[in-house]
Amino acid sequence: MALDIVLLGAPGAGKGTQAQLLCKQFGYRQISTGDLLRDNSARGTELGVAAEDFMKRGALVPDDLIIKMVEGELHGDEAVLFDGFPRTVAQAQALDAALDARGRGLPEAVFFQIDRPLLEERLLGRWTNPRTGRVYHERFNPPRRPGIDDEDGGPLIQREDDKPETIKRRLDVFEAQTLPLVEYYDHAHRLAAIDATRSVDEVAHALLHVIGMEHAH
Ligand code: AP5
Ligand code: MG
Repeated sequence: MALDIVLLGAPGAGKGTQAQLLCKQFGYRQISTGDLLRDNSARGTELGVAAEDFMKRGALVPDDLIIKMVEGELHGDEAVLFDGFPRTVAQAQALDAALDARGRGLPEAVFFQIDRPLLEERLLGRWTNPRTGRVYHERFNPPRRPGIDDEDGGPLIQREDDKPETIKRRLDVFEAQTLPLVEYYDHAHRLAAIDATRSVDEVAHALLHVIGMEHAH
């Protein structure tokens, strides 16, 4: 079985874009905590209602809610791509413990390196399919018809947290609370870094290389 992988990177770094590509090509299972939370919020579940206010403000949802939600997803044999999780050291420790308890190896993290101005540009131009989580960018990765998903023909939306003020807050929160995970995984010799400023295809190639799947391509 392939290793579980943590996609570690700032908002807009391209985690969701790459996760969708890898899942399609190699049968990984994507666990995107952001997508799961948005789905809960759309369905009005207790978790969704509790998370909404944090998400709107660009703050992190409390660790205990997130860890419980992810533990509920850790079933099946496929290798998992964690997208947007863990985001705090407490979440990373909880993930290691949960995988260990299930007899799985500990995950490797891939850090998406990219600077802030490019992140803002990517998030401001993003369009998302709320049903599948597939993302486009109006300039960098446009759909064939504006506002329409290439795959299912349904409408694309702009995320509520992709507004200038909220983007700024999300990037600040990333730097304060999630960036320390680079050190956490590096210290455990479980970190690789890739240049996330390149094109979608180039980033995909670099990602396959560091996770040892390039020959399967
Ligand atoms: P979440 O949904 O995880 O959002 P995020 O981390 O802010 O990351 P994004 O989804 O914005 O970015 P991405 O890296 O996936 O980029 P994408 O591929 O879309 O979290 C949302 C909220 O939920 C959080 O703020 C928090 O409140 C809560 N939450 C979630 N997880 C949590 C957790 N673990 N703990 C606590 N709270 C949690 O790409 C961005 C754009 O760039 C797209 O338009 C895309 O087309 C374009 N693009 C992508 N790659 C490239 C490229 N190589 N070149 C050019 N354009 C590109
Ligand atoms: Mg995402």
